[in-house]
Amino acid sequence: MLKYLRKINDVSITGNMAKWYDKNSRENRRAEFAGYAKEIACLVKPGEGSGGGKPHILEVAPGPGYVSIELAKLGNYHITGMDISADFVEICKANANREKVAVDFVQGNVSAMPFNGESFDALFCSAAFKNFHNPSGALEEMYRVLKPGGQGLIIDMNKNTTTAVRKGEVHKMQVHGFERWFMLFAFGTFLRNGAYTKEGFEALLASSRFSNWNVEEQGISLYVHLYK
Ligand SMILES: C[S@@+](CC[C@H](N)C(=O)[O-])C[C@H]1O[C@@H](n2cnc3c(N)ncnc32)[C@H](O)[C@@H]1O
Repeated sequence: MLKYLRKINDVSITGNMAKWYDKNSRENRRAEFAGYAKEIACLVKPGEGSGGGKPHILEVAPGPGYVSIELAKLGNYHITGMDISADFVEICKANANREKVAVDFVQGNVSAMPFNGESFDALFCSAAFKNFHNPSGALEEMYRVLKPGGQGLIIDMNKNTTTAVRKGEVHKMQVHGFERWFMLFAFGTFLRNGAYTKEGFEALLASSRFSNWNVEEQGISLYVHLYK
């Protein structure tokens, strides 16, 4: 389904679905998001932005914004989160206010980002690349907005996963009842069908402007490292 939807348009998340996604993320995925924030902090340490200043970090498609929020707690970064969903931008702002951290959340499309070229020391994108209508355009824009020497990390579901790996992932989320059933169903059907294989992602990268990248399979995910 995801694969067919994204052929028509970007798969945005809005309305009650965005509210449910926020609640599920806040209640069940905070450890995952904190882990991602630590991975970003390994790419660029506070105070190690180009020119020795505060690093500028972009989170593409943050959904409810918890990775950016966790990163803001880790150090002195200038963080921007950009999502196509106006509803998620509002949710992100409320979440950042509640947690008393400063992140600029803005609305925008990854394949036409509202930023000058060479603006960011690093960028991050999780669980969203498979939603993009124009994946080549997304990579083109990621290249454009990164500073020379900048790095990107895209994490998204690997199409080649086993039932056991997917069950393990849902177990980590500690969801129960209908939510557990739904997550297993989603991972096994429409999310998986829309996901890229390692080889599929490598083919996209081979025709992008990035000449240096690495795709690793880790658990249920692909970790795609981009170097400009
Ligand atoms: C499944 S959510 C992932 C949210 C969050 N990154 C996470 O790890 O849970 C996918 C996100 O991609 C956003 N999105 C889809 N197409 C987009 C685009 N072209 N540009 C920016 N955001 C987009 C959706 O609105 C949604 O917030």
